[in-house]
Amino acid sequence: MSMVGYEKHGSVAVLTVDNPPVNAMSPGVPKGICEGVARANAEDDVNAIVLIGAGRGFIAGADIRYFSLPWPDGEEKFADIIAAFEASPKPVVAAIHGHALGGGLETAMACHYRVIVPSARVGQPEVNLGFPPGAGGTQRLPRLAGVKVALDMIVSGRPLKAPKAAEAGIVDKVIEGDLLEGAVAFAAEKGTQDGPHQRARDIEIKLEDRSVFDAMRENIKRKARGMRAPYACIECVEAAVDLPFDEGVAREREIFEVCVASDESRAMRHVFFAERAARKIPGIGKDVKPRTIAKAGVLGAGTMGGGIAMNFANAGIPVTLVEQSQENLDRGMGVIERNYANTLAKGRLSQDAMDACMARITPTVSMEDLGDADIIIEAVFELMAVKKEVFAKLDAVAKPDAILTSNTSYLDVNEIADSIPGRAGNVLGTHFFSPANVMRLLEVVRTDNVSDENLVTTMAIGQAMRKLPIVTGVCHGFIGNRMLEGYFGEASIMIEEGARPLHIDTVMYEYGMAMGPLAVMDLAGLDIGWSKRKDAGGGVATEGRGAFVSNRLCEMGRFGQKTRRGFYVYEEGSRRPVPDPEVDQLTLDAAAHYGLEHREFNDQEILERCLYPLINIGADILHEGHALRASDIDLVYINGYGFPTWRGGPMHWAGTVGLNAVYEKVCAYHETLGFDHWKPSPLLKKLAEEGKTFEDYDKEQ
Ligand code: 3HC
Ligand code: NAI
Repeated sequence: MSMVGYEKHGSVAVLTVDNPPVNAMSPGVPKGICEGVARANAEDDVNAIVLIGAGRGFIAGADIRYFSLPWPDGEEKFADIIAAFEASPKPVVAAIHGHALGGGLETAMACHYRVIVPSARVGQPEVNLGFPPGAGGTQRLPRLAGVKVALDMIVSGRPLKAPKAAEAGIVDKVIEGDLLEGAVAFAAEKGTQDGPHQRARDIEIKLEDRSVFDAMRENIKRKARGMRAPYACIECVEAAVDLPFDEGVAREREIFEVCVASDESRAMRHVFFAERAARKIPGIGKDVKPRTIAKAGVLGAGTMGGGIAMNFANAGIPVTLVEQSQENLDRGMGVIERNYANTLAKGRLSQDAMDACMARITPTVSMEDLGDADIIIEAVFELMAVKKEVFAKLDAVAKPDAILTSNTSYLDVNEIADSIPGRAGNVLGTHFFSPANVMRLLEVVRTDNVSDENLVTTMAIGQAMRKLPIVTGVCHGFIGNRMLEGYFGEASIMIEEGARPLHIDTVMYEYGMAMGPLAVMDLAGLDIGWSKRKDAGGGVATEGRGAFVSNRLCEMGRFGQKTRRGFYVYEEGSRRPVPDPEVDQLTLDAAAHYGLEHREFNDQEILERCLYPLINIGADILHEGHALRASDIDLVYINGYGFPTWRGGPMHWAGTVGLNAVYEKVCAYHETLGFDHWKPSPLLKKLAEEGKTFEDYDKEQ
């Protein structure tokens, strides 16, 4: 059956693209469109053509799967559609609802006219897949919308809503009523007018000030660090200004093809599909529906609880925020108010929206007030005894079917669930990341007995909060923090062997991490680990490898950025880490303490020793079933720990290095260093021996 329907509405031929779920340009769609245009032009009673999408949108662009698959021989492509439109003597009108994205917008821009419903969006999001638009988008959009608007859209990947698209000249008319009816009427009228009809390619580009290109390069410097695609987008738009149309299109295509073949694009396509896969939980079908959450509760208005309460309020869900004292409650509410006020000051929130959010948060010191909450998230101190006490109280006050979750970072959520056995099916973990109102990652910790419905509901709540919920099993530190111990651990161990903190951080920053590991530890606060080591040592901090320098720093009151001294010193009001000879001396003391000799480190060793433990521990987590798929682990690292998206996450990146090479190094470091995080993972070994990647593993599951 054709993927493009053909119907006549009076004098107008309507071509309907019908390729669920999003009308991507899969093989068959271009062919159907080309055939429809040819037929309409051959039929005497047709004077115009409308191209429309069935279902939820117009066209979502190229079928992304085919960037990694061969396109069938002889099958029509974008270029054929565009040529057919531009050669058509009868006007072609794109009728847009839902979305016209990427190749979808490019197709629409090759039509003579475009009409749109007010709720639709148009955009060129290709940059998020690691390449610029490749079907003339970078040449037609600047002609229609002007260079500045086009450049912003193409480099940022952000779509425009219909009214803005109309204002920019990307579309000709906003249709308020029925789209098909409006589009047919518009096309019928155009069909009565003499041709030739307008073509974007014929519009002359006007650009008075070429500095927009360099300004954009400067503007994206930080965000696009290490990436090629955003700069490729700028080059393509520059070509639109500098070259005649057909040469500009050829230049765009050349740049596009190089980018599509790059590791960066492969990584970003991996992330695109990883995000969609993460919503699926094997064994839980679509028949398990999330429950309605009308009211929520949060316990603890500290660093995390306040941000979590804001997440509910932002999602439109009234939330009761409970503290143990009025003083702490007032402090917590003050922080929330300041957070909203900051967003307001930046122009990202209106006063009305802020007032509405604040009104959704009800502060109280009484746990009894949680009696009507459908979900309650606990964010009190990280101590099992305190958690159990709080859950026992919740058992007494919460609705019988309320979902009860813990925001614990490390504790055994099964043990917490088992402490109130009558409700074990309703207890699970929700591990938000700090700042909880900002960070996108949410680890949803699946306990042994949690019901499918409660798990699905918690995932849905995460999505309603605009988070990226990732299912993780119960293990120490879940996915992210468990892996982090290897990463931080190895960085701390290397400084004892002579690697300088700034060298380690520079290597990791240049790799693409948002910050190096030692700078992150300074930011998070060295006292957290110190206090854990003191707990473990019965009051005296344990001093295994990697702890020496940190323990000494804490004894000196150097807790990191908050005390302006840690692994680095920080000048008043500055976050820039400055190396400190006192720390260098401590690393020498550490070497003497452990009987080591300081030596020179090269960049490659630093990189391997920071990243390979992540991969090795990640493989264990996968092997044990504590992650559903390797791509979930990638998403955790990208969204929670500043791992560069364009590297695809640690597990994907391991595949670009080659698992065999990674495995050999893991074995070698295990041999020489011996730490637990180097103990070769059986799954890493297996995949390396089979010549596979973690993506192969995911596909086989
Ligand atoms: N190709 C292939 N599959 C796609 C796709 C595409 N362009 N867009 C979406 N899908 C798939 C998803 O993988 C998902 O599959 P699944 O159900 O098996 O997991 C399904 O369609 C539904 O997608 P979403 O869950 O994302 O649906 P939403 O309703 O949340 O969002 C959307 C719809 C806004 C269209 C969103 O899917 C989207 O942003 N898609 C990508 C758009 C894009 O990047 N287009 C550019 C493609 S590259 C291009 O056009 C090159 C050109 O310049 C030559
Ligand atoms: P915090 O110390 O900032 O806040 C805890 C709050 O809980 C305090 O205000 C305290 O008064 C309150 N509290 C304690 N017992 C209570 C009770 N019985 N009833 C009501 N309120 C009570 O701690 P933070 O950092 O917010 O951590 C909370 C939880 O979140 C911990 O389990 C922590 O491990 C976890 N977490 C922390 C992250 C962080 O970066 N701070 C990140 C992710 C998780």
